[in-house]
Amino acid sequence: MQLPDPNDAPMDALLRRSWHPVAIADSVSHEPTAVTLLGEKLVLFRASDSTVTAFHDVCVHRGAALSLGWRDGDCLVCPFHGWRYDGSGQAVGIPSQPDRPIPAKAALTACHTREHVGLIWVALDDPVAPLPEFPEHDDPAFRSIVCPPYDWDCHALRRLENFLDFAHFAWVHPGTLGDPEHPEVPPHEVWSEDDEIRIRQPRPEPRNDDVKTGDLSEEAEFTDDGRVMTVMHYRAYPPLAAQLRQELPDGREYVVFIAPSPVDEHTTRTFWHVTRNYALDQPDADFIQFQVDVVAQDRPIVESQRPERIPPEITAELHVGDDKVSLAWRRLLAELGQRALAADRPRVV
Ligand code: FES
Ligand SMILES: [Fe+2]
Repeated sequence: MQLPDPNDAPMDALLRRSWHPVAIADSVSHEPTAVTLLGEKLVLFRASDSTVTAFHDVCVHRGAALSLGWRDGDCLVCPFHGWRYDGSGQAVGIPSQPDRPIPAKAALTACHTREHVGLIWVALDDPVAPLPEFPEHDDPAFRSIVCPPYDWDCHALRRLENFLDFAHFAWVHPGTLGDPEHPEVPPHEVWSEDDEIRIRQPRPEPRNDDVKTGDLSEEAEFTDDGRVMTVMHYRAYPPLAAQLRQELPDGREYVVFIAPSPVDEHTTRTFWHVTRNYALDQPDADFIQFQVDVVAQDRPIVESQRPERIPPEITAELHVGDDKVSLAWRRLLAELGQRALAADRPRVV
């Protein structure tokens, strides 16, 4: 088993100080839900006011897993001795000694928890960056599908970087996103803005009438070999979220939002949405299946990458000109990692 790079303290700090999705919001009922983030076991509890809070999945009494417990009224009940905790994590009942005061220290450790774009997000330590923006999710002109997450045996940073890698389309996605006859990466602009990486790239793509290019008008533009001209707009939010908004002909916009969640050092659960402003009466399954097919092509490649974690030293891997997106991405990650590490250090006064 490969251990985390001991020199990657900045990345460790950044991952703990970042928002990560841990569950689809609709899947979190009022019963406790067990999840794992960065190797730490957590329990999600939706209180009677619908607010969800993530606690470390450890009862402060004898360490039993609260996710094995249940809800009773407004309280989360431990399965071992029945201690009752309210939505803030404070113990409010010890059944074995109902007439004695409850120790003030009898409280669960809560994590930062938010519900955002249909997902439950958790930060283990004070986050250094806001939740990622996804404006199309709440735009009534769009239909946004919260898709079932999928697990890969890889580090989450490798999975996210794969989403920003343009040179692999011809080889990994022939016929869906790329064409082996055209392996060259189309020119693109890359810049950083408000701690995000942004990219704009006009890109021809094989025609896919089932999900993107059916019933086009005569205004649509094609290459000589029949590929359709599109424009890709990426926003990448360090460390682990990104969205692609693809401008298709006739005002169509197709958006993929992904947030690979670092379950542990070797497991990534990718939460994702597919969002569109056209063909709103077409079955969602067509759009989901297209992405399922695409990521099935990516999976064996990303799971094979070594070292599993992106090396902290930029020079540890070889970069060529068309890796400028991942270079910009890695530099921004390094900068934010230093910021997170500085936030970890106790202030000297
Ligand atoms: S271990 Fe939870 S109540 Fe005793
Ligand atoms: Fe891919």
